[in-house]
Amino acid sequence: MSTSSSQIGRFAGPSRVIAVAGASGRVGKHVVEGLLSAGFTVIALLRQPSPDLIASFTSSAPSSSKLIPAVINYTSPYALTTLSEKFKEHRVDTVISTLFELDDSLHQVEDVLLDASLASGCVKRFSPSNYAMPVPNTKNIRGCEFKRRIMPKLEKADISWTHFACGIFTNYLASGAPPKANGDLPQAHLNPLNFIINPSAGTAHIPGTGDAPCVFTVVQDVARGVAEACKLKKPWQLNTGWIVGDKMSYNEAVRVLEEVTGRKFTVTHTPLSTFLSRIKPTDTALNAFYVEAMAAFGSGDCDFDDVLGGELKSEGIEWKATSVREFVEEWWGVR
Ligand SMILES: NC(=O)c1ccc[n+]([C@@H]2O[C@H](COP(=O)([O-])OP(=O)(O)OC[C@H]3O[C@@H](n4cnc5c(N)ncnc54)[C@H](OP(=O)(O)O)[C@@H]3O)[C@@H](O)[C@H]2O)c1
Repeated sequence: MSTSSSQIGRFAGPSRVIAVAGASGRVGKHVVEGLLSAGFTVIALLRQPSPDLIASFTSSAPSSSKLIPAVINYTSPYALTTLSEKFKEHRVDTVISTLFELDDSLHQVEDVLLDASLASGCVKRFSPSNYAMPVPNTKNIRGCEFKRRIMPKLEKADISWTHFACGIFTNYLASGAPPKANGDLPQAHLNPLNFIINPSAGTAHIPGTGDAPCVFTVVQDVARGVAEACKLKKPWQLNTGWIVGDKMSYNEAVRVLEEVTGRKFTVTHTPLSTFLSRIKPTDTALNAFYVEAMAAFGSGDCDFDDVLGGELKSEGIEWKATSVREFVEEWWGVR
């Protein structure tokens, strides 16, 4: 069940203690920082002790928040018991996964996380890793198999759940932009990826016509959105976590970059089938993943509504995300 009427009674109420799986990852670091900034207690689930990472989290966190690191061996036969005991010990009420690996076995790790959440008796909310397009729309991306595998189990589970969808990170539109005077980089903890558009080279290789709408969201807004979703009183539903920073086609995104930088971009459009035929049997799983993901983001699979904004408003929580133009002006405009 996604959200039954019994859950609405049982699981209503904001989160207090949140466990984040994949806290060492690019997106995971942002999610942990967003939750700490909002004053939550965060249990950072890590595979390795990472004192430097923990120190960097705590140095920037407000004193009202608390960070507790927990090292987990997900492949141990005791992983489920260890995790559910950890959840009980810290009274975790929400589990958020930000895991990623191009290996189908990753779904087993999320299975353990979900089973431990259900066994704990205290976890009332669960979010599997996503942070892209709504999971059903990933059907043409083989590397997203682990995201699809957990869905049928979640639909039957007696838990309130959502997956956070945010489109493509707007941050990539400033890959290669110079750092700010304080050292901040546009990509923050992400990779400075040239995804479809290479802004510093002034090129765009767009799959399809480039006219399909696509959601763009700044990663820091995603982290803030996750924290705001944890404040909601109502239970999460499948689409509660759909966050829209801005929505525009890749052709429009190029136009924004051209207007702000005053530079004409060299743009190619490649029919989708030709674009996808670039994947060769000898390609690495990562290369194939990028090509399939670019085709999906460029062809309309990343067009969805801002559900989280509406949910927050309905509970009187203020919400505003950064537009593509605001972000591009911040990083490519005159400083
Ligand atoms: N929309 C976008 O533009 C966009 C861009 C990037 C990512 N994403 C999405 O964001 C999510 C997170 O991606 P990311 O880039 O943050 O990934 P990442 O940096 O590679 O981090 C992956 C995390 O998963 C952990 N992990 C990997 N394999 C594991 C395993 N077998 N068992 C337990 N932990 C494991 C890693 O732990 P260790 O540190 O111990 O290895 C790390 O914490 C993914 O769902 C991805 O698709 C979206």
